[in-house]
Amino acid sequence: MSDGAAAHASELVALAAERRWAWIVGAIIAVIVVMMVVTGLHWASMPPSRVETIDARTLHLRGEFVETNLGTTLSPDGKVTVRVVAQQYSFVPQCLVVPEGMPVTFRATATDVIHGFVVGTTNANTMVVPGFVATFTTTFPKSGEHLMPCHEYCGTGHEAMWARVQVLPRDEFLTRARSGERLSCVAR
Ligand code: CUA
Repeated sequence: MSDGAAAHASELVALAAERRWAWIVGAIIAVIVVMMVVTGLHWASMPPSRVETIDARTLHLRGEFVETNLGTTLSPDGKVTVRVVAQQYSFVPQCLVVPEGMPVTFRATATDVIHGFVVGTTNANTMVVPGFVATFTTTFPKSGEHLMPCHEYCGTGHEAMWARVQVLPRDEFLTRARSGERLSCVAR
């Protein structure tokens, strides 16, 4: 084979390899674009959290968010759950009790419009959307008291909408929670 023919043959090999890689890269881009479109449409059509729905019209009548079930509970397996309802322009209960250094699961919903809350400077932060249950689990490393303001504009009383969160030392919390009641620090 002449030098020219050999050069031509290797050029063909290179071209074939380039074409193969062009197809592979093209396929990767196509997969990424399809993923972006599908997830974009999916998230655009529902709230960006675990989706759990609830009928906002009957919250006060029956189910998990009736007033007597709000506040903090310690279940027999040691799980701490805080249930809270947001409404124009307050949280129920107005004062929440949580333990220091234990995982705490918040479950919150709204009766009327979109609210939200953040607990002090912690990472406990969520939107509260009517018709949906917002839930997250967090741990408070230090005892102390935090403010819990509403952080979604919800109407003319928005800036006055806030609750307090008391983070109790673990032993103090466990002593109080053993009674099996729904705990809060609302003055009775
Ligand atoms: Cu509730 Cu702003």
